[in-house]
Amino acid sequence: MAIRQLPPDLVNRIAAGEVVERPASVVKELIENALDAGARRIEVATAGGGLRLIRVADDGAGMEGRDLALAVERHATSKLASDDLSAIMTLGFRGEALPSIGAVARLTIASRASGAAEAYEIAVDAGAKSKSKPSALPAGTRVEVRDLFYATPARLKFMKSERVESAAIVEMVKRLALARPEIAFALSSEERTVFRLEACPPGLLDHGLARMGRILGPDFVKDALPLRAARGNVVLEGFAGLPTLHRPNGLQLHLVVNGRPVRDKLLAGTVRAAYGDLLPQGRYPTLALFLSLPPDEVDVNVHPAKTELRFRDPNGVRSLIIGALREALGAAGHRATASLAQAALDRMAPPQSQGARSLGLAEQAQAPLASLAQPSGDTRASIADADAPPPASYPLGAARAQINDTFIIAATGDALVIVDQHAAHERLVYERLKRSFANGGIARQLLLIPEVVELDAEAVASLRAASSELERLGLVIEPFGANAVLVREVPSLLGTSGVRGLLADLAAELAESEDEGGARLLAGRLDHVLSTMACHGSVRAGRRLAPEEMNALLRDMEATPFTGQCNHGRPTYIELKLADIEKLFSRR
Ligand SMILES: Nc1ncnc2c1ncn2[C@@H]1O[C@H](COP(=O)(O)OP(=O)(O)OP(=O)(O)O)[C@@H](O)[C@H]1O
Ligand SMILES: [Mg+2]
Repeated sequence: MAIRQLPPDLVNRIAAGEVVERPASVVKELIENALDAGARRIEVATAGGGLRLIRVADDGAGMEGRDLALAVERHATSKLASDDLSAIMTLGFRGEALPSIGAVARLTIASRASGAAEAYEIAVDAGAKSKSKPSALPAGTRVEVRDLFYATPARLKFMKSERVESAAIVEMVKRLALARPEIAFALSSEERTVFRLEACPPGLLDHGLARMGRILGPDFVKDALPLRAARGNVVLEGFAGLPTLHRPNGLQLHLVVNGRPVRDKLLAGTVRAAYGDLLPQGRYPTLALFLSLPPDEVDVNVHPAKTELRFRDPNGVRSLIIGALREALGAAGHRATASLAQAALDRMAPPQSQGARSLGLAEQAQAPLASLAQPSGDTRASIADADAPPPASYPLGAARAQINDTFIIAATGDALVIVDQHAAHERLVYERLKRSFANGGIARQLLLIPEVVELDAEAVASLRAASSELERLGLVIEPFGANAVLVREVPSLLGTSGVRGLLADLAAELAESEDEGGARLLAGRLDHVLSTMACHGSVRAGRRLAPEEMNALLRDMEATPFTGQCNHGRPTYIELKLADIEKLFSRR
């Protein structure tokens, strides 16, 4: 076949494939344009998951009539005054967003330049441009995108449900709104307000937390550590959530570089490294970090959607972030493993990975299963007193003490056993949930007073869409307005505390699986969901246990398979042989 030069319309549609992946990417480009135009207030309205309509109105500088026609041309931009790509301070610079959107949808732009006597508008329909004409608009710019992807049916087929696309839009607006607390944002969907965010006064550390709270949730306001650090001309400030605010995915990890929200693997990895073992394995912190640096220290021209970037001095940035986070977290009084303790731990033999079963413990167990979720006490009356000598038949020994309300110290004939009570109990609950699910159903407990759990609208929608599957897992919920669900029954094993946290985590799990594979949902992620449930139904670190409760937990661990590690892969207990302890003290 002969080579041919592609016509401009087709070129634009191809380019659009990169820039405009889904409705949320259109929302992103239009909000970025509004921000670049100096808007103080941005209003976004959508319908049909953004596929039917996206409208973004701003009060920014607007465009002159003659510029309107240029704005929808490819590679036309007002943001590169010189040909220098190394000093970009605006969010846009490629001159591609509007022509790309116009190539695959029906685009209308009305705009009035500040101080201009008249407003103008222009339309582009699947690449066909109209002439600009006078319009009625008091100030700023209003962009409307209708029937997105109608000109590219192949792309349209890839869209998820309206609900999932709407959720992605909400997420996108939140990310941008978090990055710019001093700008007011409003989002509505199907003519209903999703949220309104008032502008915060300038000064991130002094006034920005209100915005963070609206986006990351009220818990964040309580548990956020403000931080500020600088290294040369790189300045970092923001708020780091306490490690306890960990989430199952990185959606609450907000990184803003020179006002641009980015998804950067280096930064995300750096942040997780800074939290280190303060976070359970596989979990992500909640935080909002803002990095400011001279524009030539960072290359934003790496990715068509500009969500990735490259630093000239990645190691410097990395150590600035790690240092600041470590300091903030350390000052918050959280445990940092001292090197001496680490050396001692290194000598301790971790249990074999298959846990108790591999030791043949299950066969040796004698005590009845006892649930710690609802301690009644009665079933434990027969269990040995904590002061009794360790019975040889109990491989995990007899409980001697509880340390920090977190660890149980038990003694066997020839070893010291340290148990992480939360990790251990979590595994027990998880194994029981799995077993009872396999045996035909998870026992449910009716709440005498149904609990109203308030969540954001997307979380509510995700939970509602999965409600029949959740019911099979023992969780019975009902709709309760757009921003809450009513919890009627919970799995009996879990107990009733922490229902809110459980639902928030489940919603995050569900949203993620929806985004990955449509409505496939729970079936393939059953273990995940059960594990999330177990995490919430377990004895928290920080609860004081009576001696008989500790011993009951040890006996349960012996009787249940796979209890050597928790659902996050951390060990549930460590056994330190007396012989090794003697070595630590140089007695051998
Ligand atoms: N809301 C707006 N207010 C004022 N001017 C705007 C607005 N939206 C777009 N423009 C003008 O239209 C031009 C083209 O916008 P477009 O988004 O296509 O490109 P860009 O923002 O320059 O670069 P990029 O493709 O990287 O977003 C902009 O450079 C700007 O001058
Ligand atoms: Mg732009």
